[in-house]
Amino acid sequence: MDIITSSPADLPGAAKSILKAAGSNRILLFYGEMGAGKTTLIKSLCEALGVNDAVTSPTFSIVNEYRSSNGPVFHFDFYRLSNQSEALDLGYEEYFDSGNYCFIEWPEKIAGLIPDQYTGIRILVLDATTRQVTVENI
Ligand SMILES: Nc1ncnc2c1ncn2[C@@H]1O[C@H](COP(=O)(O)OP(=O)(O)OP(=O)(O)O)[C@@H](O)[C@H]1O
Ligand SMILES: [Mg+2]
Repeated sequence: MDIITSSPADLPGAAKSILKAAGSNRILLFYGEMGAGKTTLIKSLCEALGVNDAVTSPTFSIVNEYRSSNGPVFHFDFYRLSNQSEALDLGYEEYFDSGNYCFIEWPEKIAGLIPDQYTGIRILVLDATTRQVTVENI
């Protein structure tokens, strides 16, 4: 599925479509260059799931946990990971296997640890405010 968002105002609608397209998949991987809009889209997904906590990219840790009316939501940003063993140390598997939503920025950094089933989301910058969002269930 491809969605074009013409501005951040389109993201709440896009988030609903993405959650529907993901179906029972709870692991969502976000690919896209710096500033493409991964965190911004994850904020909208969290809102759609009923998260009331502030959603910000995990800066001091690799993972943030938010409370939602649909249970915990985990937000990973692996950008600063220097090697995959750091993901093992933080116990990534327990999060991935928990059955809760896991939103993952920079999954390229844990390429060898990605589960068999996930939803891949690619964000392509078309211009300053326009993004092409491609959603694929694997
Ligand atoms: N259609 C759009 N969708 C998403 N973001 C948009 C859109 N149009 C403009 N933006 C802007 O692009 C920026 C995206 O920044 P964001 O932090 O979400 O990127 P990121 O992919 O998470 O980057 P990083 O790799 O550094 O974590 C925000 O300032 C946002 O307002
Ligand atoms: Mg980000």
